[in-house]
Amino acid sequence: MLYIGIDLGTSAVKLLLMNEKGEIKNIVSKEYPLYFPNPGWSEQKPEDWYTQSMAGLKELLDGFDKSQVAGISFGGQMHGLVILDKDDQVIRPALLWNDGRTFEECDYLNDVIGKETLSKYTANISFTGFTAPKILWVKNKEPENFAKIAKIMLPKDYIAYKLTGVHCTDVSDASGMLIFDVQNRCWSKEMCDICGITEDQLAKVYESYETVGTVLPEIAKELGIPETVKVAAGAGDNAAAAVGTGTVGDGMCNISLGTSGTIFISSAMFGVDKYNALHSFAHADGSYHLMGCMLSAASCNKWWMDDIIGTQEYANEQKAITKLGENHVYFLPYLMGERSPHNNPNARGTFIGMTMDTSRADMTQAVLEGVAFALRDSLEVARSLGIDIQRTKICGGGAKSPLWKKIVANVLNLKVDMIESEEGPAMGGAMLAAVACGEYASVEEIASKLVKVVDTVEPDPELVAKYEDRYQKFKEIYPACKPLFEIIK
Ligand code: XUL
Repeated sequence: MLYIGIDLGTSAVKLLLMNEKGEIKNIVSKEYPLYFPNPGWSEQKPEDWYTQSMAGLKELLDGFDKSQVAGISFGGQMHGLVILDKDDQVIRPALLWNDGRTFEECDYLNDVIGKETLSKYTANISFTGFTAPKILWVKNKEPENFAKIAKIMLPKDYIAYKLTGVHCTDVSDASGMLIFDVQNRCWSKEMCDICGITEDQLAKVYESYETVGTVLPEIAKELGIPETVKVAAGAGDNAAAAVGTGTVGDGMCNISLGTSGTIFISSAMFGVDKYNALHSFAHADGSYHLMGCMLSAASCNKWWMDDIIGTQEYANEQKAITKLGENHVYFLPYLMGERSPHNNPNARGTFIGMTMDTSRADMTQAVLEGVAFALRDSLEVARSLGIDIQRTKICGGGAKSPLWKKIVANVLNLKVDMIESEEGPAMGGAMLAAVACGEYASVEEIASKLVKVVDTVEPDPELVAKYEDRYQKFKEIYPACKPLFEIIK
């Protein structure tokens, strides 16, 4: 049988075709535009996601026996607000996970409703990228659009709806809306009231590995697949990536170096850190996880390479980096503001420490190191909770760079396990589809059978010590710049 994973990312949708043994048969990627209509705003058109997903599905299946397709599922960019009217038409472009416009609504939620109350109802506090402040933004700034809302959906759930006709979501993605009672895995009536919405405007919640329906007859016909193909709810991209990298069960770690950078720690038990610096979300395996999310990770490197120094030769640029642990240049990677752990939409990207002998390679190195230092900020929060992490998996575009993996291993002092396939969320989506179709009994079972570690980057004690010294300096830079970010905003 064949299973399809759809990873609805920020720069592109990636589709993966896998057989029941977990062998990857095909991968297709289709890009779509990302709009920044104002500084700090970030939008995409749900219609583009759907058009490109369908084009990608056709290309993915070309030349394969389509009658063998049994299931489809998802990993999807989280938190995005998709609003549909009574005829299920998209009302306005989606506000994305890295959109910082909702700072006033976020302050209202955190300061007026109060962080303790939010944490009691949802296990989380408000961040500008979360969905609840976006709903309030539409309510406050676009009341005519707010009045039209019949359904509120997350990005990947819009694709599931288009494929099946079912308004659905899953526990992991719903967790990032700040309307979901994470511990009890259900919508929070109190949060609906705070946002001025009703529960019937929200989608039905499923576990990630549950079937929400079968493909609509017209979709089956267009793709040439059986009408019996099941669609499983899927997961937010980080939970799906965790499934794809085998980060399930208790105390496992995965780092994703994608457009965003995340550190994801799976946990059998529900838990919240004292300051809600880490997100406390439901996991796609039926349990929970903690997660730190930085808004710009591989995107910092892409920005530096493509837009600033103007090259596509990433590997070549990195060859010039020879002085690991000895760079005097530091980079704060806050090009879209920052989520974890600073929660500051006004934070900005910053280079500091250059001298006349600073080279292009030093600056490139500072970008890679700055992302690693910022990930360590979140890891330190987890460590402060007594969580003992010794090793991690890694996935995302940035994980293709051996140098960056080495920097991450040494800055975080973690063994970095590399797995056969770095296709985190798309692979995880296909695996969730296989579980929904009964091919495997559980998410843990499929992960233990399919995910194979092929190599490990070991931290080198000498380099760890050098990076420890540099991390202590890095930690001083954000607090010193914070008042300036308020002035220059
Ligand atoms: C997680 C988050 C990002 C997006 C990226 O909280 O906002 O990782 O899911 O797609």
